[in-house]
Amino acid sequence: MSERTLAIIKPDAVKKHVIGDIIHRYEQVGLKPVAMKMLSMSKSVAEGFYAVHKARPFFGSLCDFMSSGPAVVLVLQGDNAIKKNRELMGATDPAKADAGTIRNAHGTNIEFNAVHGSDSPETAQFEIGYFFPGMEIFN
Ligand code: CMP
Repeated sequence: MSERTLAIIKPDAVKKHVIGDIIHRYEQVGLKPVAMKMLSMSKSVAEGFYAVHKARPFFGSLCDFMSSGPAVVLVLQGDNAIKKNRELMGATDPAKADAGTIRNAHGTNIEFNAVHGSDSPETAQFEIGYFFPGMEIFN
């Protein structure tokens, strides 16, 4: 079933000059970018995006990181896009991510882990709507 997921190429990956490599990986597995932009999140925009994690001890540091420089946000579309992207990203902790995954290749540690991907259809709907109005998404 074709579905959409929200992906973020995080500030650490942008600083490493691997935007192109990551987008190539999406396209190679059939995750088609249907919306994309570079933006620099304010701390409050990052806090709103990660509100579900606000009770976690790493919340403040995560939001500082996500607002530390430009990131690329994308909507990816394809069959089982949510699961497919999570497999492509690998485990949250790059040290535990399988060979061939984005986080294995480009992540530094559990916080600076190169990419984000929605974890459920409900989350995808919230996250896509957080960054993109319908008129900025193309089929
Ligand atoms: P992401 O998939 O964007 O979802 C939440 C983010 O919080 C996660 O990637 C990491 O960047 C960060 N994160 C998750 N667990 C930890 C942790 N234990 N310590 C620090 N950061 C974490």
